[in-house]
Amino acid sequence: MTSQPLEEGQVSSRSDGTILEACDLTKSYRLGSRDVEALRGVSLKVRRGEFVALMGPSGSGKSTLLQLLGGLDRPTSGEVVLDGQVISRLGDAQATRLRREKTGFVFQFFNLIPLLDVYENVALPFTIAGEDPRRGDAAARIRDVLEILDLVGREHNRPDQLSAGEQQRVALARALVSRPAILLADEPTGNLDYASGGEILDELWRSCDELGQTIVLVTHDARAAAQADRVLVVGDGKIRDEIELGRRTDRRAGPLIARLAQLGL
Ligand SMILES: Nc1ncnc2c1ncn2[C@@H]1O[C@H](COP(=O)(O)OP(=O)(O)O)[C@@H](O)[C@H]1O
Ligand SMILES: [Mg+2]
Repeated sequence: MTSQPLEEGQVSSRSDGTILEACDLTKSYRLGSRDVEALRGVSLKVRRGEFVALMGPSGSGKSTLLQLLGGLDRPTSGEVVLDGQVISRLGDAQATRLRREKTGFVFQFFNLIPLLDVYENVALPFTIAGEDPRRGDAAARIRDVLEILDLVGREHNRPDQLSAGEQQRVALARALVSRPAILLADEPTGNLDYASGGEILDELWRSCDELGQTIVLVTHDARAAAQADRVLVVGDGKIRDEIELGRRTDRRAGPLIARLAQLGL
């Protein structure tokens, strides 16, 4: 077999099924006259199709880590390798393109565009890429995710005409419609009541289990983290512990809470 020359910024580390890798990440923020060290040396690997939860208290560095993993921000030092591309070696335009092609993001506060209806919000990744979202493959994919997320009949509603749970389903549809290599979710249930939060967690798990979607979920909630195959416990800018739960249908939080208690967390 002849080996292909690597493109600039590309490394050949995909043979072990790793789709996302962080190597010794640090991140400092300048706050007035002092530096806040949000991340203090984080390394991790995520396998293709894996569901990983980053769990830890408020202020521990979870959102910062997720933003670096998805190329929304750059580390102070260290590297992120996303699907074979070293993000930190890419220019801004290339990094933006990689992020659009490879990642889908879901946030606590939905981040929908208020003046666009459900269809237009979900269609946004295609619109940004200059594709007509009412035709061909784009239209088929949009119909698929609207169906999967039970939004059929809501296409012409604006976000303010939807419940919080429905709004988050729209945000999830928008994140999944481009079939990203990796879905990154930051406290996606943090602004939802218990029942709607449970629905979103079920949808995340289903996309992973049935569609093979790779997911990194940030949460401070054990019920959310208990959906994952593996939980990385974040504390004070570092990964403190790792709990392997494995793929399973019973995803109640009890066993995870017991393991966290054993670790003194
Ligand atoms: N843009 C920013 N500017 C200054 N400090 C920040 C910024 N973002 C986060 N921090 C600080 O970095 C630390 C980690 O924050 P964050 O990653 O948001 O934690 P978490 O998501 O676990 O609550 C906190 O001390 C926070 O105040
Ligand atoms: Mg956060």
